[in-house]
Amino acid sequence: MTDLDAVIAAFATHLRTARHVAVLTGAGISAESGIPTFRDAQTGLWSHFDPEELTSPAGFARNPALVWRWYAERRVKACAAQPNPAHYALAELAKHVPTLTLITQNIDGLHQRAGSPNVIELHGSLHRARCMADGSVHHTWDYDEELPRCPNCGAMLRPDVVWFGEMLPQRALETSWQAALDCDVFMSIGTSGVVEPAASLPRVALGRGATVLLLNLEQTVAARPPLFTINGKAGEVLPRLVKAAFGE
Ligand code: APR
Repeated sequence: MTDLDAVIAAFATHLRTARHVAVLTGAGISAESGIPTFRDAQTGLWSHFDPEELTSPAGFARNPALVWRWYAERRVKACAAQPNPAHYALAELAKHVPTLTLITQNIDGLHQRAGSPNVIELHGSLHRARCMADGSVHHTWDYDEELPRCPNCGAMLRPDVVWFGEMLPQRALETSWQAALDCDVFMSIGTSGVVEPAASLPRVALGRGATVLLLNLEQTVAARPPLFTINGKAGEVLPRLVKAAFGE
């Protein structure tokens, strides 16, 4: 048995008896689907732009067509990508535990495509647009339009994502916070945990006595139960974890 096998086996015993599992995911869970992180996506043509120009209200006000081009490219790439075994393992996990709250910082929609229900999107979605005037939310729009318009009122649409300096959606944030307070197992997957609330949620859960797993490529904190850490690829580790807990 390797160290990884031992950690997986130990954590699996907590998953098996969990009443409420809360899961927070970040860019790392989609890396194996070929979706670049924000920083990695800023290559080629886009490397000339300050992130502020592409992902802030001020940047959008200055050059909405540029910002729409950036998001259109990312949306097309997300649509072309496929969920990976990590996304599928979480969809499978939801079938085995009484309550699973899945919270993501990703905007790519891959959890939903893998079959996860009720995904909480803290940073919005590439697959939605929002009217700047009436706030209405749209799941399709004229993708060929340089500056898409609201079908209701004709005002400009914007990507329904959270930009630098903007508040997170209130309901999504509250539900995430409640889940961290209520869960008995919390898993943080593929997020560097430097952006709030990703930084706080695992701590809140730990503080309430939950068992916590941090899974990414570069863990630095020292793990001691109830805190577990795994340095590994989500697409390899998560299917093994779910199988160890619930497999035949
Ligand atoms: N499996 C598991 N973890 C991975 C994998 C993988 N295959 N590949 C990368 N990781 C880990 C990295 O080790 C890192 O800890 O995923 C994390 C990615 O960190 P970030 O790029 O900072 O992504 P995230 O935490 O989601 O960023 C938060 O910041 O850029 C903004 O709004 C953007 O939602 C994003 C937020």
